[in-house]
Amino acid sequence: MNDHVIVNNERFDLYLSEEQIHRRVRELAGQLNEDYKDNVPIFIGILNGSFIFFADLIRQITVDCEVDFLKLSSYGDAKISAGQVRLLKDLNCQVEGRDIVVVEDIVDSGLSIDFIKKLISRENPRSFRVVTLLFKKSVSKIDFPLDYVGFEIPPEFVIGYGLDYAQKVRNLRSIYRLSGSKNQEKPRS
Ligand code: IMP
Ligand code: MG
Repeated sequence: MNDHVIVNNERFDLYLSEEQIHRRVRELAGQLNEDYKDNVPIFIGILNGSFIFFADLIRQITVDCEVDFLKLSSYGDAKISAGQVRLLKDLNCQVEGRDIVVVEDIVDSGLSIDFIKKLISRENPRSFRVVTLLFKKSVSKIDFPLDYVGFEIPPEFVIGYGLDYAQKVRNLRSIYRLSGSKNQEKPRS
């Protein structure tokens, strides 16, 4: 495993290894299997970023479940949010009366998850919960709790395991963060 990668002439250092991620994914799935043992939840992956996390998580789920996807507009090529969210692909399932579990790669400003929550709540689900692999808690402005969080991380730009930089490097197996970040805080699970 590389201890760093170079993307667009910028250096990113290893932050969360494949093993660390997989251990945490198994723990999150364990909690979900327990919490949903009497239900048939619909897991909704948010494209594009969550596709790898979603695929790993869902294969650890042992309860009856369904899957669907929403696609939101991306960051473009920048490292900061465009500040607005657009729906690029809607759901294909009936949400009313169902137990919904949204699967996100990362919650940063919270704008996307806030948008998703409002969109889905309009359809009257029986319950609505969120699982996110990464959470930049200190900069997030959401006014509802995130039910399952893989790792709380400082507000730094991270890539890999589904997360892109200008659409690239989603295929990296580990998560890397921009080198020289002032904040040396470790991820917390
Ligand atoms: P939010 O709306 O600001 O919470 O950001 C949500 C989306 O922005 C995520 O689902 C990611 O696709 C993207 N994003 C946020 N932070 C990062 C990052 O550090 N690296 C790559 N993508 C990110
Ligand atoms: Mg995303």
